[in-house]
Amino acid sequence: MSKKKDRAARADLHLTSPPPDIANKDLLIRFLRIVWPYRWYLIPAFVCMLILAATNGAIAFLVQPILDKVFIEQDTVMLSSLPMVVMLLFALRGVVYFSQSYLMEMVGQRVVRTLQVRLYAHLMAMDLGFFHANATGGIISRITYDTNMLKVAAASVTSNLLREGFTVIFLLGVLFYRDWQMAMVSLVGLPAAGTMIYLFGRRMRRLSQVRQELMGGVTAHLEESISGQRIVKAFGMERYERARFRLLNRTLLANNLRAAKVRSISSPAMDMIAGFAVSAVILYGGQAVIAGTTTTGTFFSFITALLMAYDPIKSLTTINNQLQESLAAARRVFTVMDLQPVIRDAPTAQPLAPLRETIQFDNVCFRYREGLPHVLDGINLTIRAGERVALVGHSGSGKSTLVNLVPRFFDVTEGAVRIDGVDLRQVTQRTLRSQIAIVTQEVILFNDTVRNNIAYGDRNRSPEELRAAAQAANALEFIEAMPEGFETVIGDRGVRLSGGQRQRLSIARSLLKNAPILILDEATSALDSESERTVQEALERLMEGRTSLVIAHRLSTVQHVDRIVVLRDGRIIEEGSHADLLALEGEYARFHYLQFQEREKACQPRT
Ligand SMILES: Nc1ncnc2c1ncn2[C@@H]1O[C@H](COP(=O)(O)OP(=O)(O)OP(=O)(O)O)[C@@H](O)[C@H]1O
Ligand SMILES: [Mg+2]
Repeated sequence: MSKKKDRAARADLHLTSPPPDIANKDLLIRFLRIVWPYRWYLIPAFVCMLILAATNGAIAFLVQPILDKVFIEQDTVMLSSLPMVVMLLFALRGVVYFSQSYLMEMVGQRVVRTLQVRLYAHLMAMDLGFFHANATGGIISRITYDTNMLKVAAASVTSNLLREGFTVIFLLGVLFYRDWQMAMVSLVGLPAAGTMIYLFGRRMRRLSQVRQELMGGVTAHLEESISGQRIVKAFGMERYERARFRLLNRTLLANNLRAAKVRSISSPAMDMIAGFAVSAVILYGGQAVIAGTTTTGTFFSFITALLMAYDPIKSLTTINNQLQESLAAARRVFTVMDLQPVIRDAPTAQPLAPLRETIQFDNVCFRYREGLPHVLDGINLTIRAGERVALVGHSGSGKSTLVNLVPRFFDVTEGAVRIDGVDLRQVTQRTLRSQIAIVTQEVILFNDTVRNNIAYGDRNRSPEELRAAAQAANALEFIEAMPEGFETVIGDRGVRLSGGQRQRLSIARSLLKNAPILILDEATSALDSESERTVQEALERLMEGRTSLVIAHRLSTVQHVDRIVVLRDGRIIEEGSHADLLALEGEYARFHYLQFQEREKACQPRT
């Protein structure tokens, strides 16, 4: 197992700590384990393949009695019985061909589904850090492309081995049975063919590895540029994106053409060798027939077997490529399956009781990755139940990072976050997160109905509850104005709604969740003052009776909270009420006057 293969397997997973390399043998064992439940489909499929291979041998074998008995000796008993045999043989072939082909496809499709479902389940269990580190398209391509690749390649390997491999063996049997000396003559081309197979195989393997990486790149690009269309258009980057896609596509094309060239040349090259072998046999066999040491029937039976062996031998030559392809695909799939989420429930994790007293940051330090600087540095902060705390500070000062530690999206590097004195790492993620509602600037909605978006997380809420939540979120009016009301589908990520409407839907969603802890991260900063007012009103209602952590750039929206915490470079530099902090005349006061002045300027009548 080379370093290179391993790199290919992880091509688009920018992992902080690379997963251990998986040996080919282990890949095979793991794959077999997934296939094992389908053994009662596979075994009959294999048997059918063997029968199919045997019928091939039988056809070549029958040429001899047909020619010698029917045509030369003019045996009438044979004339009446042999066509029957041939007919039965072909009927049998039809049945076994269908059975093996359908059974294999059935197992293959099911294995793909199983792999996809398992991969997806595994991805859902990964923590946010993983999704931040990996391009969405790359992850999607693991589920869609690589699993199918694995199926196709593995199915080819099996049917090649069993169907074609055994066909060759049966035909070789006929060759040697008919005339072993002539059989030896027909093998003259073998060394040349072997060398060629090896060389072509090696080339194909390299090319297919590159293709799998490129496919990941293409999917990633598509995903990014399609979901980011608004930005692409706003910045007039259509040409740039087109060029990027064209470049990717061209690289893929060049690679595919190279592969096509190898495939196309390997066939005539093999033909040449086969032609050489057949001429040698005609020369040798013709002499033998003329000399009377062999019969015409034997000779034709021999030639038939030789010609029939040709196609299966050719497909056997690709078996190594297919094997390598399936190993590469299996490696890409299992590498993802082996990733362990960093955030996991401890074996001793207990359910978290509803918040009663405090959320406490105890000397918390945090960095996103080893080697990066600390984003939070010695944070000590205690939030009492029911308190509203605002976080302010420059962009990049660590506000979002700090609030993301509460639902344990990330684990602290040092120190601890505790709820009622219990370390978050000691409680189950499920019970922790069920207590927290989050509203962020970037609203995440799904391409579903308004109803399902609001009831996300608990689909069993009554229509009355839903209406009440929508009303409290100032969303009822616009929902009812839509043609299908609560049943309106809002488009991918809610593209059919305005920013403020999206925000109010997400507030309704949080209201319905009715969690005791609330996190608002710049929930209003993307809105104009008019929709900010309606959203702010909805937020006020949402905050009522909840322990809230609020981040806002516009200080006017946080003036009335119980306590304001000012962050700078990951440290708390000031803390207190609005009035306290103004009196302190520090950073907060400066922020305040700065924004105040701006607003004054904006409000002055133009002259
Ligand atoms: N996923 C991440 N990986 C690595 N670094 C990150 C990641 N997310 C944020 N950072 C870094 O952490 C620092 C703090 O980011 P954070 O998002 O907490 O700032 P913020 O105070 O919320 O800023 P803003 O007001 O602009 O939202 C920044 O320097 C940022 O570059
Ligand atoms: Mg932020």
